[in-house]
Amino acid sequence: MKDSFVIRGNIIYSVDKDNLSVTEGGYAVCEDGICRGVYRELPDEFKEFDLIDCGDKLVIPGMYDLHAHAPQYAFRGLGMDLELLDWLNSQAFPEESKYRDEEYARRAYRIFVEDLKNSFTCRASIFATAHTEATKILMSYLEESGLKTYVGRVNMDRNAADYLVEESAEFSLRETVKTIEETAELENTKFILTPRFIPSCTDELMKGISDIRKQYGLNVQSHLSENFGEIDWVRELCPWSDFYGDAYDRFGLFGGEDYKAIMAHCVHCSDEEIALMKERGVYVAHCPQSNTDLSSGIAPIRKYLNSGLKVGLGSDIAAGYTLDMFRTIVETVQVSKLYWRLVDESMRPVTVKEAFYLATVGGGSFYGKLGRFEEGYEFDALVLDDSSIRTSLELNPGERLERAIYLGNTSLIIMKFVSGREISLEKSAQ
Ligand code: GUN
Ligand code: FE
Repeated sequence: MKDSFVIRGNIIYSVDKDNLSVTEGGYAVCEDGICRGVYRELPDEFKEFDLIDCGDKLVIPGMYDLHAHAPQYAFRGLGMDLELLDWLNSQAFPEESKYRDEEYARRAYRIFVEDLKNSFTCRASIFATAHTEATKILMSYLEESGLKTYVGRVNMDRNAADYLVEESAEFSLRETVKTIEETAELENTKFILTPRFIPSCTDELMKGISDIRKQYGLNVQSHLSENFGEIDWVRELCPWSDFYGDAYDRFGLFGGEDYKAIMAHCVHCSDEEIALMKERGVYVAHCPQSNTDLSSGIAPIRKYLNSGLKVGLGSDIAAGYTLDMFRTIVETVQVSKLYWRLVDESMRPVTVKEAFYLATVGGGSFYGKLGRFEEGYEFDALVLDDSSIRTSLELNPGERLERAIYLGNTSLIIMKFVSGREISLEKSAQ
């Protein structure tokens, strides 16, 4: 049967945010892309399935990247000495303007998609640029990759240099609809509405995006309360709003019963904003690397977890410098310790187990029933060979996973599955 097999190995996943399920030498069963559970002994009904014997290797769920900018991948690791608004003007916008040129877009997006394919990430929510053809190129490459993604053609009709800003709200909306309709046939790659952030979008544009949302039933992704200068600017631009998130909400773009919204960063949310995020079911895309790189601050993730918000992790490439979600897990833990020590001693640090949960189950729930090897979950998985990380200690599989998260990189991945389909890995330089 297609997409049906059994993997034998050390199978690990988060049962909840504080507990891992670890089955040493167990069997994870995938039937038609859906998990049928993990067993110590393989039940007779699955004995006919192909067996992939991974021996002593680690088998874990795929990682989910809730926030990445594909066109910024080209300059990752460069220009990190600025804050958000100066960084946008000097790094992000000049690079993004190059995607007007389809040939450049092909070259750059080919590299991005190959590297994403070889990464820990199985599903992602991605910003493209304000260019229809380049966005379609990115979506077609992602479709071929077998990864499952949401991709947005970025809307931005104000407050950017002439060489990038869209000529009018009407133009931006028309091109958005064109992109939605011309990519509707794709299976793995779905369109997500992507107003860049409030400073980039006129009220007329936001209103039009909201109408498109209702018409096509789409999800939304954007940025929220990332940087002090940005937050002050939103207050000036939208004096009619009570707070930043309210400016999205007034247009019906902040999540609700019939659609989901991802808001990236959420570093400086007020209690009022947090209460509305909870009410609307907003997904926080926590991007610790970017928040450090652009000196934005430390998002209070413990507070969000205590408040019952939905939280996943994001690379925010290229304000984050790597697509590596293991790094994002580590940095989630590290910055939470600084927050606890330096900002608020009542907010205890995020544990490694919790951060692993956020990278798998937390973000995964945006895309469906994902992140656990339990009956009915979609089968996204990574097989890791950690034998290159040498030690004189005898470690159990849970300890080996923790160590791989801290010390490993994508070279550990020997197999990767999305909905039970194996992704072919090409080992290329990062
Ligand atoms: N806010 C608006 N655009 C961007 C972007 O490209 N990166 C980040 N980090 N924040 C943004
Ligand atoms: Fe971003």
